[in-house]
Amino acid sequence: MEITIESLSLEDLKVKYSSDEELGFGQVFTDRMFIVNYEEDQWKIPRIVKYDNIELNPSAVCLHYGQTIFEGQKAYRTPEGNLNLFRLDKNIERFNSSARRLVMPEIDEELYRTGLITLLKLEKDWAPKKLGSSLYIRPTMIATTPMLGLRTAQDFIFYIILSPSGPYFPEGFQCVNIYVSENYIRAAPGGMGNVKTGGNYAASLLVTAEATRKGFNQVLWLDAIHKRYIEEVGAMNIFFIIDDEIFTPPLSGTILPGITRESILTLANDSGYYVREKALSIDFVIESIGNGSLTECFAAGTAASVAPIGSLYYQDKSYMINKSTVGPISKLLYTNLIDIQYGRKEDPYGWIETII
Ligand code: PLP
Ligand code: COI
Repeated sequence: MEITIESLSLEDLKVKYSSDEELGFGQVFTDRMFIVNYEEDQWKIPRIVKYDNIELNPSAVCLHYGQTIFEGQKAYRTPEGNLNLFRLDKNIERFNSSARRLVMPEIDEELYRTGLITLLKLEKDWAPKKLGSSLYIRPTMIATTPMLGLRTAQDFIFYIILSPSGPYFPEGFQCVNIYVSENYIRAAPGGMGNVKTGGNYAASLLVTAEATRKGFNQVLWLDAIHKRYIEEVGAMNIFFIIDDEIFTPPLSGTILPGITRESILTLANDSGYYVREKALSIDFVIESIGNGSLTECFAAGTAASVAPIGSLYYQDKSYMINKSTVGPISKLLYTNLIDIQYGRKEDPYGWIETII
């Protein structure tokens, strides 16, 4: 596949951040981006260009009707200084599942893969070195046809941007406190909860702001119909340890099929834990905290990795889990996962591609 690579002048190159410690999440961007247009029913010549604004017509479909999709993945720096990608095939597969749901053209696996790897090779020096930091990767597709009629666009842009980032939660691997949302839901059956489209995240902003104002780190979503069954936490999947078994809600269609979720289930199973994908009601969870059978809870996703949950706030009461300290199973699974991602341990699953 041929990619046109624009050469950047010295003035185009940014001053790099001076230390990994000062990086927040998703605030710094590298010098270049990968971009390709879709017109007349085909993807045009892909390009790597200077990271810059994109020109859009004010009536572009993405700006009015939210025909947008994205992915989230990371390149992890190994102790030898190489860059690891984690389960890239899964991100490509999910991106195309999002594309189908939003009536957007699918991306040829080769285009996504070669575009990303070529970009990473050019931008490798931007990858932070510190464990817990990484080069966050954001592949995105937007509908650009200028029209206000409500129907699918004909023109699209696919682009990939890179952001050297620190941990999603600045405190690092420490317990977070969660607000259970009773009045707002994230996704309903038949909706778009199982794909990555901007509208799902826009729907979460109001209650997340309310939770933040009250001092909580994230929102726990209950199901749309009964407002009882636990779905996800913020932009992460959720896990409970009850009587030494690991529970997570099943992929019912309203939950995002997390790649970290799938990996944690494999790691847990291979560490000898009994793993169950089972719908759990909030009442059952509260009861299990009360009677001591629920000993740990954590959330997991690419951006946040594994985030131990120290308390749930529901109907004006706070329920503390494991005295708000990180439990041994959460710690073990977190360590097993990051050791593979950062190349500190051999990957027995074929999840890692070392690209540089
Ligand atoms: N749930 C939602 C709503 C998300 O946005 C994400 C992040 O992508 C996840 C779960 C976790 O998915 P993954 O582990 O693939 O990052
Ligand atoms: C990710 O985990 O990569 C995500 O897409 C979550 C994002 C909302 C920060």
